Amino acid sequence: MKYAETRGLMLPAFNTTNMEMTYAIAKGLNMAGLPGYIQISSNNLRLSNPQVITYLTEDALKDSDVPIGLHLDHGKSYEDVKACVNAGFTSIMIDASHLPFGENIKEVRRAVQYCHFYGVPVEAELGALQGKEEDIVNEADCKTDPDMVLDFVTQTGCDLLAVSIGNVHGLDIEPKVDLPLLKTISEISPVPLVMHGGSGIPFDIIQKARQYHLLKVNYGSDLRKEFVSTFGRAYEANHNTASVIELSIEAVENVSRKAAELVTVINS
Ligand code: G3H
Ligand code: ZN
Repeated sequence: MKYAETRGLMLPAFNTTNMEMTYAIAKGLNMAGLPGYIQISSNNLRLSNPQVITYLTEDALKDSDVPIGLHLDHGKSYEDVKACVNAGFTSIMIDASHLPFGENIKEVRRAVQYCHFYGVPVEAELGALQGKEEDIVNEADCKTDPDMVLDFVTQTGCDLLAVSIGNVHGLDIEPKVDLPLLKTISEISPVPLVMHGGSGIPFDIIQKARQYHLLKVNYGSDLRKEFVSTFGRAYEANHNTASVIELSIEAVENVSRKAAELVTVINS
């Protein structure tokens, strides 16, 4: 975070699920020569576990020329937070935004106490995003209330604040980002801000948002689409396609190109 802030950079946080996407994200950030995060949500840890993701990331970063963090995205429990910190994750989100304000504060504060003991920064969310984060659908569209920001950040001790300003998860709903609201929040928040739901947000909006203390932008769907469509196109072309290795290598190429494109554009 400090590296990016001192250089005026915007950090993309790219969601991974598996080995191929983890390697692809590291490759894409190095192709662009820009820093960012590899991140995985609690929901995506069902297939593997934090140790596996840490191992894959360490292997993917062994020749990296740029700083890349490993972040727990939408951490859904204190147990997940501890497991990821213990596995070596360098950044954590505890997402208790679905809880009432006081409960959100309590959950985040507990995670902060654990994470800060190990020097790991914590992202928290105030407000709720509409949309689909893979199979988790949230109908609530509850924008971040600027009047609650200072109290929330002060009481929790979080290091990053994820905001709900018309951004949405997934590609099914068109985002309507409220930049004046982001400006208001940025003037109140003592910590940098995070935009979830990066896929589908016009690049000029992200570029404009940089002036409002936006430090991290999450991208999930854009990369997953590159991965899935690689296999989809091959199968459509030939139902007997079975070369997982060839398609996996091609998928890594496609995802890394998308990651390189995104990190370059949001920093241009
Ligand atoms: O936390 C993950 C991101 O918010 C993903 O959002 O799939 O709309 O890019 P996205
Ligand atoms: Zn998100």
